[in-house]
Amino acid sequence: MAGAGAAIGLGLKRTISPSTTALAANKIDGIKKSSFSTSETITPAKDVTHYNNYYEFSTEKTEPAELAKNFRTRPWKVKIDGLVEKKQELDIDSILKMAPPEERIYRHRCVEGWSIVVPWIGFSLSELIKRANPTSKAKYVEFTTLFDLNQMPGQRRQVLDWPYVEGLRMDEAMNPLALLCFGMYGEDLPNQDGAPLRIVLPWKYGFKSAKAIVRIRFVEKEPMNSWKLSAPNEYGFYANVNPNVDHPRWSQAKERRLGEFLKRPTLMFNGYGDQVASLYSGMDLKKNY
Ligand code: MTE
Repeated sequence: MAGAGAAIGLGLKRTISPSTTALAANKIDGIKKSSFSTSETITPAKDVTHYNNYYEFSTEKTEPAELAKNFRTRPWKVKIDGLVEKKQELDIDSILKMAPPEERIYRHRCVEGWSIVVPWIGFSLSELIKRANPTSKAKYVEFTTLFDLNQMPGQRRQVLDWPYVEGLRMDEAMNPLALLCFGMYGEDLPNQDGAPLRIVLPWKYGFKSAKAIVRIRFVEKEPMNSWKLSAPNEYGFYANVNPNVDHPRWSQAKERRLGEFLKRPTLMFNGYGDQVASLYSGMDLKKNY
């Protein structure tokens, strides 16, 4: 789906056989399996691609699929700046070649209380960070989403302070679970899921996983993230999945897996404690929510 090349290819195919290829997406070759994958039942692609939080397009979950369908993901540059040896602007296709694509089947838990299991495709964010060469002063990394009023109708409404910004502490960003993601279900990432490039952080609430990234900046101080800025008493910087710390307006003890009727218990760090709990040892997770 993403990419000028893919778009041209699709255009050609459409002329030949419009009905069968209109929804065809680009398959990603050479995908490696990952030992980080869960064996839980994968949520159907149709649900994951038609129930989206993507406020740049709409606050209605069913709308991004349609509203983002013509979103242009090529050409696409990602600016790497802040505390780095060399500031640079990388072309998306050079980023995608940095490491072999891996399939990571992760649980994804939204702060709103629903969850999905998705076969994401990407590689560890650390692969890009190593190549970005941050200086020793860099303690945090900040991710910024595209700001484009012509393409993203939701940005005309001040539901958030645009552009969407997220951040991580450097050791969180370097954790092997943190995924730089450009695909799902064996294919390019659909636009509504964050094409051409997003992050996926399975132990954190979904809002940390910023979509359509255009800038990665290395900084000394904790960046201000969009949701914390909009409601600091409800959304924090860390946003680790934590069934023991309720949202001020609802419990976080349980979640509804899309497609299931009964709620299931939410797991500490979304079940990824073995890999990430040590990042937070000694921290008060009630204060650092
Ligand atoms: N990134 C941007 N730029 N804008 C958003 O509105 N929503 C977040 C996150 N990343 C959001 C975003 C939230 S709340 C969630 S739960 C996930 O994206 C949803 O990802 P999905 O639609 O691929 O399931």
